[in-house]
Amino acid sequence: MDTHVSLFVCLCLLAAQSIPAETTSELLTLMKHLERPRGRTMPSRVKHIHRLEQMLLNTSFCGHNLTLQTDAIQSLVFELGCSFPGLSLSSATLPNVPQAWAPHGMQFPAELTKEACVASQPARLRLICVYFFTAQLFQDDSNSSLLNNYVLGAKLDNRTVNNLQNPVNISFWHNRSLEGYTVTCVFWKEGASQHSWGAWSPEGCYTEQPSPSQVLCRCNHLTYFAVLMQLSGDPVPAELLVPLEYISLVGCSISVVATLLTILLYAHSRKQSDSVTCIHMNLHGSVLLLNVTFLLSSQMALPTVPRSVCTVLAATLHYALLSCLTWMAIEGFNLYLLLGRVYNVYIHRYLLKLCVLGWGFPALLVLLLLVIKSSVYGPHVISFSKSQENGTSFQNVSMCWVRSPVVHRVLVMGYGGLTSLFNLLVLAWALRILCRLRAPDKALSSWAYRDTVMVLGLTVLLGTTWALAFFSFGVFLLPQIFLFTIFNSLYGFFLFLWFCSQRRHSATEAKAEMEAISSSQTTH
Ligand SMILES: *[C@@H]1O[C@H](CO)[C@@H](O)[C@H](O)[C@H]1NC(C)=O
Ligand SMILES: *[C@@H]1O[C@H](CO)[C@@H](O)[C@H](O)[C@H]1NC(C)=O
Ligand SMILES: *[C@@H]1O[C@H](CO)[C@@H](O)[C@H](O)[C@H]1NC(C)=O
Ligand SMILES: *[C@@H]1O[C@H](CO)[C@@H](O)[C@H](O)[C@H]1NC(C)=O
Ligand SMILES: *[C@@H]1O[C@H](CO)[C@@H](O)[C@H](O)[C@H]1NC(C)=O
Ligand SMILES: *[C@@H]1O[C@H](CO)[C@@H](O)[C@H](O)[C@H]1NC(C)=O
Ligand SMILES: *[C@@H]1O[C@H](CO)[C@@H](O)[C@H](O)[C@H]1NC(C)=O
Ligand SMILES: *[C@@H]1O[C@H](CO)[C@@H](O)[C@H](O)[C@H]1NC(C)=O
Repeated sequence: MDTHVSLFVCLCLLAAQSIPAETTSELLTLMKHLERPRGRTMPSRVKHIHRLEQMLLNTSFCGHNLTLQTDAIQSLVFELGCSFPGLSLSSATLPNVPQAWAPHGMQFPAELTKEACVASQPARLRLICVYFFTAQLFQDDSNSSLLNNYVLGAKLDNRTVNNLQNPVNISFWHNRSLEGYTVTCVFWKEGASQHSWGAWSPEGCYTEQPSPSQVLCRCNHLTYFAVLMQLSGDPVPAELLVPLEYISLVGCSISVVATLLTILLYAHSRKQSDSVTCIHMNLHGSVLLLNVTFLLSSQMALPTVPRSVCTVLAATLHYALLSCLTWMAIEGFNLYLLLGRVYNVYIHRYLLKLCVLGWGFPALLVLLLLVIKSSVYGPHVISFSKSQENGTSFQNVSMCWVRSPVVHRVLVMGYGGLTSLFNLLVLAWALRILCRLRAPDKALSSWAYRDTVMVLGLTVLLGTTWALAFFSFGVFLLPQIFLFTIFNSLYGFFLFLWFCSQRRHSATEAKAEMEAISSSQTTH
């Protein structure tokens, strides 16, 4: 027997089998150190936690069970034998638990000591529990929030206990609404992160919610446990709701007026009915359809409107978006043909083929979806969250839109991403050609330059929208629907401006041509 142990035996004998005061005061000092981590680096705090564990495991308490308590940490020590019947701890039955603390509990199965007792007959088994009523010491890289900020830990000697057949039950009671959150039971995995001393992991733990005020974790091992609260989906802050509604309304209206004006102007002067103008007009048409259906989509999602109307509108909105994207890509393709001087290559019924692609292909996709599973379209709920002192409240807004995340990912995000990528490639190529072209062929270059600027402008506008969509997180990626409208409104307006400038340009060109002819005639 080494001196360390014999010293404690002596102390125990002297103090008539009670725990020496120095031992408990040393432990309490350590716990208080841990509680006020200000000015301490994380590694030193982690060292303190390990030190506390080791002291609780290693010091002799003369066969007593022990409860130590500071403001935010509680340590429990239990001496167990091999005939362990299981142990149920609850804050209601433990001494000295402040009333203000939310109830919690742990249940250990009889199986806990089995492995230790099969291998050898240990003189004693010690179970320690360290409860932290603060999450300060357990912050992962993303500052995850924990239910009640409770972290409950347990350890059986210096052993690793895992793969229990009967799980350990850990209960957390709480008084808050968990609406809008997903709760997950997790344990602290030391060394699983680069920036912190660990990370939360849900492995081996099952999460149950037996009642609205209880979360029950059933885990097959012993460590530090907590309940992770994550906002489900990505609710938009409620403050944005009114501004976004206004922006959508104003933006879409501007876009509708601008595209309507452009189409009317074009119809009024059908002089240049070349393929370029015709493609522009089709793009205008799809933008018009997109804006009109978008303006209607939140009106048609009201509960008073029949579901089928909403489904049809959602499908139309999706169709309009897809054809708008397709016509964008067609603009890019046409630019490629023009600049590549492949234009002289006669494509049989070129415009008809483009129209089949621009209007027909999206229609085919949407109709297929409607036939296969019409429930992918319908009222879609957008959650707006509002943080309050007593939790987070939600305000829901509906619109008729794609409901299925898979369809959204593939036929909205994917399609938009691909068409934007295609146009960006064409643009990069076009800019290179233009740089080479500039000097020799002035007329062609000025004309091609204008067209490139337009497609560049459009693609940047649309590309930005899709980039926004890609970098927003969550299942439904909703805020970008509103952001899309902001850019989309600019889009319709930009098309209008471009159309006007082109008309003015061609008018001045024609005038200059006339003047040149007349002046040459006078000189003759
Ligand atoms: C724990 O106790 C053993 C002897 O039982 C001793 O050798 C060891 O140094 C102690 N460890 C700590 C961290 O106190
Ligand atoms: C310590 O706690 C365990 C489990 O509750 C119990 O079986 C044991 O009798 C207790 N020991 C003492 C000395 O109170
Ligand atoms: C844990 O809870 C389940 C049901 O809630 C119960 O069947 C099981 O016995 C509990 N485990 C322990 C160790 O008490
Ligand atoms: C985590 O929270 C602390 C304060 O609670 C803050 O100082 C820190 O910047 C946050 N870190 C991250 C990554 O959010
Ligand atoms: C427990 O294990 C750790 C490392 O795994 C070691 O540093 C420590 O001394 C051990 N404590 C006891 C009481 O055996
Ligand atoms: C919940 O609130 C009620 C009343 O405010 C209080 O009596 C109860 O102890 C609280 N429970 C928890 C788990 O905080
Ligand atoms: C939260 O507080 C607001 C007022 O600040 C109150 O209207 C609301 O009912 C409260 N919600 C809950 C769940 O207590
Ligand atoms: C808002 O939607 C969420 C889920 O998206 C739902 O849990 C909540 O009950 C809804 N709230 C209202 C007021 O409809």
